[in-house]
Amino acid sequence: MTEDRQVRAAKNPDETHHLSFSQIPHDALTRADRPATIVAPSAGPSAPRFQTDPLTRVRELPHRYILAALAVGALFATTACGGPFPQSTLHPAGDLGFEIDRLFRLILWLAGGVFVVVESLLIYVAIRYRARPGQPPPARVHGHTLLEISWTLAPAVILIMVAVPTIQTILRTDGPAPAGALEVSVIGHQWWWEYRYAESGVVTANELHVPVGRPVVLSMTSADVIHSFWAPRLGGKRDVIQGRTNRLRFTPDSVGVFLGQCAEFCGESHANMGLQVVVEDSAAFEAWIAAQQQAPLPPDSLSPAAREGLEAYRRIRDPASNTCIICHAIQGVSGGLMGPNLTHLGSRSRIAGDMIPNTAEGLARWLRDPITAKPGSKMPNVGLDESEIAALVAYLQSLR
Ligand code: CUA
Repeated sequence: MTEDRQVRAAKNPDETHHLSFSQIPHDALTRADRPATIVAPSAGPSAPRFQTDPLTRVRELPHRYILAALAVGALFATTACGGPFPQSTLHPAGDLGFEIDRLFRLILWLAGGVFVVVESLLIYVAIRYRARPGQPPPARVHGHTLLEISWTLAPAVILIMVAVPTIQTILRTDGPAPAGALEVSVIGHQWWWEYRYAESGVVTANELHVPVGRPVVLSMTSADVIHSFWAPRLGGKRDVIQGRTNRLRFTPDSVGVFLGQCAEFCGESHANMGLQVVVEDSAAFEAWIAAQQQAPLPPDSLSPAAREGLEAYRRIRDPASNTCIICHAIQGVSGGLMGPNLTHLGSRSRIAGDMIPNTAEGLARWLRDPITAKPGSKMPNVGLDESEIAALVAYLQSLR
């Protein structure tokens, strides 16, 4: 029988098992449950090193240690942020990003105010009402009507202060497409992004080109699992769901390349599902569209190596699922829909879900073993030999 059970049994011999904690006399509890003395194992009878209550020792912790701990914490908090951060929502580059950032800052200040008030009260109460020898317990405030109304109303008012601007922001940023908006369909795939431009018929992958200053409306769906389109500096994050079309509307306000990525766990290579939004001035954008609409070079104009690559691209392999043309489209050559459209692959800066640089070396690495290059890749290892790889690299690089 433990010591406190002995106390309970002594106080109420018939109800040993039914005593609640609060029913145990205060005196008995403090004596029986708390070790009154902690003696260091090596201490002899003449040298009892720790003879005070452990709680008392904590209270006696010198203030300078607490201050030092706070200072180290503050140092970490203020120096951990350097940069550059290409995917930071704190440097918006468009109207949607700006709206979200403004809302974030408002809520951050409100939350900061709540933090300061609550922590100040907590620290004040902890110091003012700490246990001291001979001090009676502090008076209770149970049933204090004014206090109870105040601490019910205050959170409600804070929540209204958050809800009103949040709803306003949603209404402002989620309306119908403005006239003259550029409409692009976005299709999420494991693990790459497909873009289809409604007006021009351009189909591309991973690198979304848009003109600066013109509203863009993305109509987004998925070919397989749920993904989430997110280019943080342009704002917003939208789930991309099979059988459903979600829209994202924004107007970029500066020229540049804005990195983004899938923001919803979508399988093995979720972390390798990157994207770029290339914002250009309208002349550069129109030139890009015109170039993307061009048919690829006819076979007679290809270099001998590239012509060999075209043959390798068309070759029917065993099993047939290892055949390039089954999955990929190249205008005038093949019409596969499983993988990215390769008609202008050479014009993109990266491949494989924005993961591998689009260089001869990067392409060769990808063709040699896609599954090692990108875990879980849906592109099989086709079993190409080195001469086929070299020829395919020459051909793919000709697709500008
Ligand atoms: Cu697609 Cu995560």
